[in-house]
Amino acid sequence: MNSLQKLLKEAEKAFQNAYAPYSHFKVGASILSSEGNFYKGCNVENISYPCGTCAEAGAISAMISNGDKKISEILILADSQELIKPCGACLQRIQEFSDSNSLIHLANKSGIQASYHIKDMLPLNFTAKELKK
Ligand code: THU
Repeated sequence: MNSLQKLLKEAEKAFQNAYAPYSHFKVGASILSSEGNFYKGCNVENISYPCGTCAEAGAISAMISNGDKKISEILILADSQELIKPCGACLQRIQEFSDSNSLIHLANKSGIQASYHIKDMLPLNFTAKELKK
């Protein structure tokens, strides 16, 4: 199994476990870190709707809590006709741990449909430069 197949498999596992009783929209995300490890996350909704978290946030949290620092590739999977794109907040989260080579793969049940770099998905991003006075 190559690394893309493994990424897809990990995202599928997370997708199956997604907790989405309110939106009925399950999302799975998986990461291959620059250190060579795989992580996954799913959306976890809450009866207090704003408390819900996105799949990407869970996968990033798993990566960081295990001590890895950088996303080499991240895959986001949903069972939707319109291909899923990370929400705005998740693009910002992905950017925090990406570099210009990091890849964002968008997938549905038929597999990976598109791949982007973060600069293409979040061109006008908020960076540390803005904090300088
Ligand atoms: N969702 C994600 O997990 N990632 C995204 O990038 C977009 C949206 C989740 C949040 C919510 O549980 C459901 O999809 C519907 O918005």
